[in-house]
Amino acid sequence: MSQFLVAIDGPAGSGKSSVSKQVARVLGFGYLDTGAAYRALAWAVQHLEGFDLDGLVNKDLHADFAYTISLNPDDYWVRVGGHDLTSAIRTPAVAESVSAVARIPQVREFMKSLTRDLVAKSELPGVIVEGRDITTVVAPDAEIKILLTAAEEVRLKRRSAELSEASAASVKRQVSERDASDSKVVDFMTPAPGVQLVDSSDLNFEQTVNAVVSLIEQFGSTKESK
Ligand code: DC
Repeated sequence: MSQFLVAIDGPAGSGKSSVSKQVARVLGFGYLDTGAAYRALAWAVQHLEGFDLDGLVNKDLHADFAYTISLNPDDYWVRVGGHDLTSAIRTPAVAESVSAVARIPQVREFMKSLTRDLVAKSELPGVIVEGRDITTVVAPDAEIKILLTAAEEVRLKRRSAELSEASAASVKRQVSERDASDSKVVDFMTPAPGVQLVDSSDLNFEQTVNAVVSLIEQFGSTKESK
């Protein structure tokens, strides 16, 4: 990948989507939410003919999963074929079933090449790519690699505020239980070598955005001074 990449991983409720989107706006970069593709595939398993969980291992997803996503932070949308899934992939039903899809090795391999293709085809000078395995598997050579975390009780509180209708039990299933399940497949709780940790437990949204932007700016100034 020849573009300037910022890879951001982190658990559910860490704020990585909203922070990544805002950092992309500030820097004039693209924003790629990689979890959306896993969610869209989980939605397809629930709603589309020819997609069942056990069959995903042998499915040619490159041919059969017509996935597209916007990398514009001010015009975000997600589509599969003729379906606009921008809102549908945020339902509890999808959040609670997505881990089963994400743990299939063939699905992860497909997602890795899908993500790399989306970045390359965008022809954008820079992209903020966020997910769970971006710093370690998808883009380990990214210029900037960040693990964005927050204490569990803070993440639960943030997600509850976002999902105002959801019960405490449902939020816990969508945050803690999903993380426990997802982290069996990829480690997004401890930073790999070369990955910088940003703990947002005691930071508000703006402070977290500033922390990430300043890591990127520091990288630029270190390069200039070399
Ligand atoms: O970030 P999110 O909550 O939208 O992610 C949805 C699911 O996708 C999450 O439960 C784990 C999976 N995922 C993944 O395994 N690897 C990624 N790079 C991004 C998401």
